[in-house]
Formats: sequence, structure tokens, C-alpha cells
Amino acid sequence: MTIPLIERFRDRLPVGEATPVVSLGEGSTPLLRAPRLSERLGVELWLKWEASNPTGSYKDRGMTVAVSKAVEEGAEAVICASTGNTAASAAAYAARAGIPALVLTPQGAVAGAKVAQTRMLGARVLEVRGDFDEALAAAQELARRGTHVLVNSVNPYRREGQKTAVFEIVEELGAEPDAFVIPYGGGGNTSAYAKGLSELGSTTPIYSVEAEHRPTTLASAIRIGVPVHAESVAAARAHVVTVSDEEIVEAWRELARLEGLFCEPSSAAGLAAVRRGAVAGERLALTITGHGLKDTENADRYGPQPVLVDPDPDAIAAAAHG
Ligand code: F0G
Repeated sequence: MTIPLIERFRDRLPVGEATPVVSLGEGSTPLLRAPRLSERLGVELWLKWEASNPTGSYKDRGMTVAVSKAVEEGAEAVICASTGNTAASAAAYAARAGIPALVLTPQGAVAGAKVAQTRMLGARVLEVRGDFDEALAAAQELARRGTHVLVNSVNPYRREGQKTAVFEIVEELGAEPDAFVIPYGGGGNTSAYAKGLSELGSTTPIYSVEAEHRPTTLASAIRIGVPVHAESVAAARAHVVTVSDEEIVEAWRELARLEGLFCEPSSAAGLAAVRRGAVAGERLALTITGHGLKDTENADRYGPQPVLVDPDPDAIAAAAHG
């Protein structure tokens, strides 16, 4: 049976006997060796496959804690602003808890599958005429009015849940890696990893990898102009690395082709930094944050195209190798 994240890490989370556990079987995700990429890049690369969380991204780690605590504290509804993954996760955990979720998305800037996922999960989706930063400011303001509990990563319970990825990686490796490498959007996950590491008494560096052109990157999950957690990213002394969209696409395709992991573009930002040699160390833990099926528009655009053939064995044999 899948152990809920809250049960697995109960002694290290701010939960008590009275906390209802709102779970979809999150956490305990695979940590996979990356033999081909390791050889190619001259490092020992480990991949934390967070796409295997229930809604397809690492957000579920934080959301199980945030929604459980919200219910414990009597919340009647939750709200978030999102580039898509927080939205889907909030919708799923709110559905699980039996409370409504209100989701604000930047107009036209969220991958279609994430919107579909969020709608199916019963959230009310409002497309905001504005960017993510404006949507987040509006969500924060509404939360201050007391009608909704904010479940963006400024909610400290999100960070508590997300720090557990670090515990799992260190536990499974049996030692600390030389570095953790993650994408950098708003910085909530960097701040969560830093908290996890400080609780372990560790000084292992975190590399947070952002898109060069934040407001326009094709990696829509991290299309965030101003990271709300910039201060805590600085306080954690995370190494901030900036990568171009071209580097993200190359890393994204390589991860799929060489290791069999199809993630969404933002999730390949960390690999882009490793490929460029921007990450120091031998043994690297690279977190792959979200599933490729969440962004099929970009996959259609950048993936190899299918070839049309007749149902004829000779024609198929002739076309078998690109
Ligand atoms: N990877 C994925 C797949 C994400 O969805 C996000 C953020 C990040 C990385 C960046 O993490 O913001 O903690 O630095 N997605 C948010 C959302 C903004 O609304 O789903 P961060």
C-alpha cells in the first residue's frame, strides 16, 4: 500500500493527531540512475522522477500538507495562482478534501493539458488578463479577505511538504550528493530544499536553474517575471544558473531520448545547466519536476514528426529508419 507522504515523514512535519490526512499517494518517487547521460557528461547523475506524483508534478508533496492543514484549520475553500501545475494539484487535493478550489491562470500562457486536468478535477478556473505575477498578487489579496486559503508556495505548509524530496534522495543514495539541481521559477522549491537540507544539518549546494528570458520562456511552468522567493533563494546561497530556451529544448529532448524520461520543458532546465558544465561536483541529484504529457504543444513542436506510410510491409521496412 502506498504510504501517504504525511505518514512517512510525520515526525518531521507540522502535523498532529487532529490533522486530517488528505492524500492521493504522493511522494516516495523513483530515484533513477542516468547511465547514458552520466557517461556523456562525465558525472554520476541521479534523476528524481517527480512526475510520478499523483497529478504529475512535485507540487503534490506540498499540496498534501497545505490542504490537510487548511482543512484542519477550518478552511472552506482554497485559492491559487498558477502556471498550471499548482492549479492541477490544488484542484486534486481540494476535490479529495471535498472543498472548492479557485484557480487563477495567466491568460493564454498555460499548457492546455494542465488546464484540462484542472477543469476535470472540478476547480473553478479563472483566466486572468495579466501575467502570473499579477494573478498571484490578486490571489494573495483575496486570501487576505479570509474567504479562501492560499495554497501557493508562500503558504509555509507547501514548503514543509516539498522539503521531503531531499530526505528521500539522501535516504536512498545512502549519502548526500555533491549538489542538488532544480528548476527555478518562483523559488518555492529551492526554499523548500534549503529547509530540508538545513534540517539534515547539510551544507550541500543547491543549483537553481532559471530561464534566461523569464517572462517569455517556452517553459511555461517557470514563466514568472519576478520570483516571489528571491530573498530566501539568496539566503539559502543557492547557485542561480540562467539557461536559454535553446539549451532547455536540447536537454529536454536528450533526457527523453537517452534515459526514457519524458518531462515538461521546465523540468529539463537543471539538465541544461549540467550539460553546460555550470554545476560543480561528481554525484549530482537532478530533480525532474513535471510530466511531459502536461505540455504536448511543445512536444508536437519539437519532437520528431511521425511519418505517414501505407499499411504495406515493404513501405514500412523502407521507412523504418529515419
Ligand atoms: N517545475 C515545474 C514543473 C513547475 O510547475 C514549477 C512551478 C517549477 C518547476 C518551479 O518551481 O516556482 O518553486 O521555483 N510551477 C508553479 C505553478 C509556478 O504554478 O505550477 P518554483
